[in-house]
Amino acid sequence: MKALILSGGKGTRLRPLTYTGAKQLVPVANKPILWYGIESIVAAGITDIGIIISPETGEEIAEKTGNGERFGAKITYIVQDHPLGLAHAVKVAQPFLGDSPFIMYLGDNLIQDSLNSFLDEFKSKHLDGLILLRSVPNPTAFGVAKVDEQGRVLQLVEKPKVPPSNLALVGVYFFSPTIHDAIASIKPSARGELEITDAIQELIDTQKTVEALKLEGWWLDTGKKDDLLEANRIILDNKLDIVVEAEVDEKSQISGRVHIEKSSKIINSTIRGPVIIGQNCHIENCFIGPYTSIGDNATLIDADLEHSVILEGAKIVEIHQRIVDSLIGRRAKLEMAPQRPKALRFMVGDDSHIELV
Ligand code: G1P
Repeated sequence: MKALILSGGKGTRLRPLTYTGAKQLVPVANKPILWYGIESIVAAGITDIGIIISPETGEEIAEKTGNGERFGAKITYIVQDHPLGLAHAVKVAQPFLGDSPFIMYLGDNLIQDSLNSFLDEFKSKHLDGLILLRSVPNPTAFGVAKVDEQGRVLQLVEKPKVPPSNLALVGVYFFSPTIHDAIASIKPSARGELEITDAIQELIDTQKTVEALKLEGWWLDTGKKDDLLEANRIILDNKLDIVVEAEVDEKSQISGRVHIEKSSKIINSTIRGPVIIGQNCHIENCFIGPYTSIGDNATLIDADLEHSVILEGAKIVEIHQRIVDSLIGRRAKLEMAPQRPKALRFMVGDDSHIELV
């Protein structure tokens, strides 16, 4: 059994962050989204992993993620020259996959459930395809399945205008090598892509065995800012180890579940968990409230924030109003005059979004 993680794509919904970096490397609780998928695949006992990358962001992904050693896996990077669809990515990966069955995992998806029980079901029933479904309030944004009472999949449609159900296809799929023949016989969709949804429909139409299981736990597709903040909240709630390696002065107060890494300094501040703070940060005269992640080398002075994700090297100084629900990019600077400002002066990147509420 192998795994194929799809980590290409342009990440348009997370601009401007994705102008300068891959969306799969945007951190959730200070760890790239992609790494959660790798860890969950390795935890299911699969260590031969191919990662599909794009020419634009692939190098950064490969450099940061490495050859797999840190995960106890072997990673092979496979370049998809053009984003021509999920099924196209499988086609490009065919030399890597050979005749092995595989898990296909979309690199910006996070799921709570372990993959083990799904994998057991897939193997013991010798299925050609196993898909995971979750009911969602907005099925038109996803691939959608119609299933019968036994869980057999009758029909799949990609981003339907009139959805046949509210059951969305989660971005984790299990395939036998028969998927390659199915992909070879489909045509590009109206948006010009080879859709994996169409390939699975082809398996169904040619009487291959395709089943669906429902996810029990949460599922997050971290494509947009609010999804990312929600993923950050859930991971901080569920997976945070409490360690404080930083220097904390006696005027500071730390309460709740807090993780602060080495070489960081906390001066005259209140930190109320769940919060994660990376290495080498300077936090002075601050209130850092629940559900906040702060990346390495960040500086926060006279700032008050909660439910936010602050990336590496960002600087937030003398903002006398609470910052909430925010995503601040790498090395971004936010500063305010000591008195109530008379004017606002910005240098803001393309597609940025500022709300003075
Ligand atoms: C893709 C799939 C879709 C699936 C979704 C899950 O959509 O095409 O069927 O429901 O991932 O994240 P995309 O995110 O590429 O629009």
